[in-house]
Amino acid sequence: MITIDDSRELDTHRRQDAMGHVLASLRDAPRRARMFREALEAVAGTRRYLHWSQGTGQSEPYVLDSDDPVDLLYQLGLCQSGRFMMRINQHASRLFLTDGVWVPKPSRVFPFCDESASLIDFAHESGWARQADCILDVGSGCGHTALAFDRPRQFLLDINPRALAYAEINRLLNELDPQRYLVRLNDIRSGLVLPAFESRPNSVLLLANLPFAPCPARGLMPLDSDGGPSGIDLQVAALRALKTFSRQLPSGTRVRAILLGLSPGNAATGSWLLEQAAGLLLGPERVEWHRCNDQLLRIDGRRGLPNPSPVDKALLAIAGCTLENPDRAQRRRVAGAYERLAAAHLKKGHTDLTYGFLKLRVA
Ligand SMILES: C[S@@+](CC[C@H](N)C(=O)[O-])C[C@H]1O[C@@H](n2cnc3c(N)ncnc32)[C@H](O)[C@@H]1O
Repeated sequence: MITIDDSRELDTHRRQDAMGHVLASLRDAPRRARMFREALEAVAGTRRYLHWSQGTGQSEPYVLDSDDPVDLLYQLGLCQSGRFMMRINQHASRLFLTDGVWVPKPSRVFPFCDESASLIDFAHESGWARQADCILDVGSGCGHTALAFDRPRQFLLDINPRALAYAEINRLLNELDPQRYLVRLNDIRSGLVLPAFESRPNSVLLLANLPFAPCPARGLMPLDSDGGPSGIDLQVAALRALKTFSRQLPSGTRVRAILLGLSPGNAATGSWLLEQAAGLLLGPERVEWHRCNDQLLRIDGRRGLPNPSPVDKALLAIAGCTLENPDRAQRRRVAGAYERLAAAHLKKGHTDLTYGFLKLRVA
């Protein structure tokens, strides 16, 4: 008899098979990329898909329509029982395959591209992207950020090998040069692991959309979102790694960084924990905090809270997300943990939570 755990395991194997299948198809015949893109665009360009991708229906894989290019998608191994088993994002003039929210938390690859879109816009507006000859995308996920740039070198670094497999699929799908887009397994808490540069970069820009959701305990949030109790653990790890890395570069190399994140703090005084931590590490004169124009949190697929918002209200909203916690009893348990986390923040004077960009001149 197949138990629930067995069937989950079978699902995981099927998903990995589908990724292997797409990767092999694209590697064997890169010319297929265009045909695949057209098929995926035909699905993702419909109002039905848009509706699915922005609401709670996305808790389950998308049900294909008879007008969709079903045969080709089946050939690619991307469908099961009439459902499309990945998520398609049309983003930054490119096409991305990634996991849907239904994939189990410990290995899920980040489904959403709205955060990357904000980061890309900010990097362009700053003028820093244009000046960089090397972009480091830390916590790259499926490649939403790095694959949207076309500088001489883009490095995509992530702790999750599954994310890197998607990044490689997306590089092939968008017909991008393998010499310029390099994918590496890297836990940012152990520093930046990069191959030796063939030619010395003049200007390095680190971009990061690392996990930043405040999280009371391990396992309550997916790997792609758990930012520790304050939400800033991985941003701080990235800054430490970048500081060490920049000391290894020849003097005169320009090193800059833009990190997207949430931060607890105090809206009345304008003091934010992430900005303070960055100031302590690099010197406050090197750090700027910019509030993001987007609303604070994506709950059930949509953003809806003012930025900033009171910390207790924001943390309870995270706990109430039915996409992340579909089971009612589980939501109650998670809500209890978030209430205790909110109380701990309030005790430290962190009355609010904000969403924005940390802009850093490292060297
Ligand atoms: C919020 S997702 C963003 C993914 C991608 N940047 C995007 O915008 O679509 C955060 C990513 O950070 C990765 N990550 C989590 N912990 C990490 C770590 N310690 N070192 C490097 N990457 C990590 C996750 O696997 C995930 O891909």
